[in-house]
Amino acid sequence: MKSKILNILRIKGDYVSGQELCEYFGVTRTAIWKGIRQLREEGYQIDAVKNKGYRLLESPDLITDVELGSRMDTNWAGGKLVYLDEVDSTNNYARKLAEDGVQHGTLVVADYQNGGKGRRGRTWVMPHRKAIAMSLIVRPDIRPEKASMMTLVTGMAVAEAIKKVTGLDTKIKWPNDIVINGKKISGILTEMSAEMDGINYVVIGIGINANFTEFPEELRETATSLQQQLGYPVDRGAIICMTMKIFEIYYERFMETQSMKGLAEEYQQMLANLDRQVRVLEPGNEYSGVARGIDETGQLLVEKENGETVAVYAGEVSVRGIYNYV
Ligand code: BTN
Repeated sequence: MKSKILNILRIKGDYVSGQELCEYFGVTRTAIWKGIRQLREEGYQIDAVKNKGYRLLESPDLITDVELGSRMDTNWAGGKLVYLDEVDSTNNYARKLAEDGVQHGTLVVADYQNGGKGRRGRTWVMPHRKAIAMSLIVRPDIRPEKASMMTLVTGMAVAEAIKKVTGLDTKIKWPNDIVINGKKISGILTEMSAEMDGINYVVIGIGINANFTEFPEELRETATSLQQQLGYPVDRGAIICMTMKIFEIYYERFMETQSMKGLAEEYQQMLANLDRQVRVLEPGNEYSGVARGIDETGQLLVEKENGETVAVYAGEVSVRGIYNYV
């Protein structure tokens, strides 16, 4: 109910009478009044004027299921929302939900993680209520070896969503770090449960440095935040909802061919490493070359010094810039 009231107030952008709300939802005035009171308690500023009704004046920077539910503009991505004030890791939580059979498109969002996970066994640290940590559960009917491409698709969605909401010039450092001005703004950790012939679920974890400016010493050179880049805080809910909206579009395009065929060109335009020197760190095999884009399977094409082009698979290697992070 809260979410629905909020949605109407937001769409109208003007006064909506209590009567109208009652008729719309087929509930009593008391139910509407209760919903308004709860929203106010959560920090929403709602004006109430006799004979005119209710008007939303200001929303706090909340990312609760109520807030996100009232703004989500998708068919299925984020169709079910789970909000957690604090959790060890949204990926861990999402995996448990996925094991219990929760629906495709379920999104777990947390305001704080006390055991956030990064790629390659690293930790992912974030401050309370100022970052974005979310995990999306999808159940694609594709072969397990194609699941790594989900991460590329997500990278595109995050980059595009940040660009749309903030106007910042986002790029992707292959395979899936989002960067702004050469510094990391977001990371993605994809985990999967699969049998030999099919996927049970994929959990796509997305961390975005949003409204904070302090980083631990070791990250200062390579990481940045949206607030740092913009000079003011962002509406986290807008970024989450936009990411889901764009993800849904890219996901469906990906599923048409179950490959990056229809997306590779767009991905390439977002690629921060394009035509740059990179160093490929493969276990027991290190070499340098120039990144030339990706192929249909999402592998990075690296042109070596001897002119030979090799395709680098995301799972096994680390690709570094020669002079700096990108
Ligand atoms: C990386 O190392 O770049 C990946 C970072 C992924 C962090 C996100 S935050 C939400 C989700 N839950 C986690 O524990 N990790 C991912």
